[in-house]
Amino acid sequence: MSYLLALDQGTTSSRALLFTLEGRPVAVAQQEFGQLYPAPGLVEHDPLEIWRTQLQTAREVLRRAGVDPKEVVALGLTNQRETTLVWERKTGKPLHNALVWQDRRTASLCEVLKARGLEPLFRERTGLLLDPYFSGTKLLWLLENVPGLRERAEQGEVCFGTVDTWLIYNLTGGRFHATDPSNASRTLLFNLHTLSWDEDLLQALGIPQALLPEVRPSDGEFGETLPELLGAPIPIRGVLGDQQAALFGQAALEAGQGKCTYGTGAFLLLNTGERPVPSQRGLLTTVAWSLGGRATYALEGSVFIAGAAIQWLRDLGLIRESREVEALAREVEDAGGVYFVPAFTGLGAPYWDPYARGLLIGLTRGTGRAHLARAALEGVAFQVRDVFLAMGEEAGLPLKELRADGGMAANDFFLALQADLLGTPVLRPEVTETTALGAALMAGVGAGALDLEGVRAAWREAARFLPTLPEEVRRERHRLWQRAVERALGWAKE
Ligand code: G3P
Repeated sequence: MSYLLALDQGTTSSRALLFTLEGRPVAVAQQEFGQLYPAPGLVEHDPLEIWRTQLQTAREVLRRAGVDPKEVVALGLTNQRETTLVWERKTGKPLHNALVWQDRRTASLCEVLKARGLEPLFRERTGLLLDPYFSGTKLLWLLENVPGLRERAEQGEVCFGTVDTWLIYNLTGGRFHATDPSNASRTLLFNLHTLSWDEDLLQALGIPQALLPEVRPSDGEFGETLPELLGAPIPIRGVLGDQQAALFGQAALEAGQGKCTYGTGAFLLLNTGERPVPSQRGLLTTVAWSLGGRATYALEGSVFIAGAAIQWLRDLGLIRESREVEALAREVEDAGGVYFVPAFTGLGAPYWDPYARGLLIGLTRGTGRAHLARAALEGVAFQVRDVFLAMGEEAGLPLKELRADGGMAANDFFLALQADLLGTPVLRPEVTETTALGAALMAGVGAGALDLEGVRAAWREAARFLPTLPEEVRRERHRLWQRAVERALGWAKE
């Protein structure tokens, strides 16, 4: 038998999945790891814990499946994007904790860059905005705050990377310092049009070129795993940021097809084909993948908090496990007038306000646990409606249906709610591990073990949720949601 191994390094857990060449999951292993919150608005990860948990899950999935590593044709790697790491080139020793994509410490740095009039340049070249979300200002913060880092970086002694690059470096014993265009396009340093690092932007931020990884195609060669790590050398042949991997795994291969992944955050991506479409409405233009020597682009609506809102209810003790939220929310007909804006780490698309903070409004003495659970689910669905509407206007045509995946897509009640609040059918595929599937399939294509027909064939519809809410009710509730959002904006600025 031949298999594809996917490593999916997410924001709250490291996962490994083994698939057949037809895209059927064989086994899965997962480990949660520590979230470090040194101060409000700051989020860090321990790079060594990322590597350790990822390696352990890769070993575990092979053990569980009882598969000989020699039967694994290729390894696909997918990851939380933007999270920024620096380490010693010679030894692989991390030089700071990873600054997680949710970390807001560079909000004022972004303001300084905006005041210098630089946003239009960054927008045009990278498709992104000047927001702390992206790696560029995080890297600049590290260069300015880790003693000696800038000098060492200029000497070529330091590697910068997003999580894909960090894992490739470790999997290959330091032989490869590389990334792919889907990850590079989230750094604020990568030119969307030339598909290479942009010297003007590096200069504007004062980032030494010597730090940067080599950019290889998403289906390119990224070396092979050291034999002692997984029992045999396995070629690394597919590298994609997690949202782009999910787009691929949802077989959204044609312009006009899109998906939403509900993980820690929720990310709506629309394939726009071979053309980067600029956005006026707070969406991002990004590389979906480069495959067979060609780049495909996407428009993205990034919502920072989705599943994390449910985890917050769990950590608060309102539910014991995240999956209990569905049963609790079902206990009530509606949220009882409660609106929950989960802006824990600011708001992403289409608002882009790093100073927004979470808000619960509409509370009365009659508000119960079930109302809060329901308001949390609605808060996620409303955020997705916000970006869905912006995308429809921007791309000139509204999406006819939305393919959903990720943890919350297992929740029938939530997907029905999402269909209601969008006014559009929501589809769930058989394999909801679409992120890992996409990385595995990309690796399969890279290794020549399958073609795009094989990728399409791996997508099978499992469920379809149709909207039932009258349009005027949907609009009215969305209006109230937007009133709540207005109150959350700018809160942490003072
Ligand atoms: O841009 C951040 C995104 O890649 C994180 O994804 O699945 O860990 O929420 P997730």
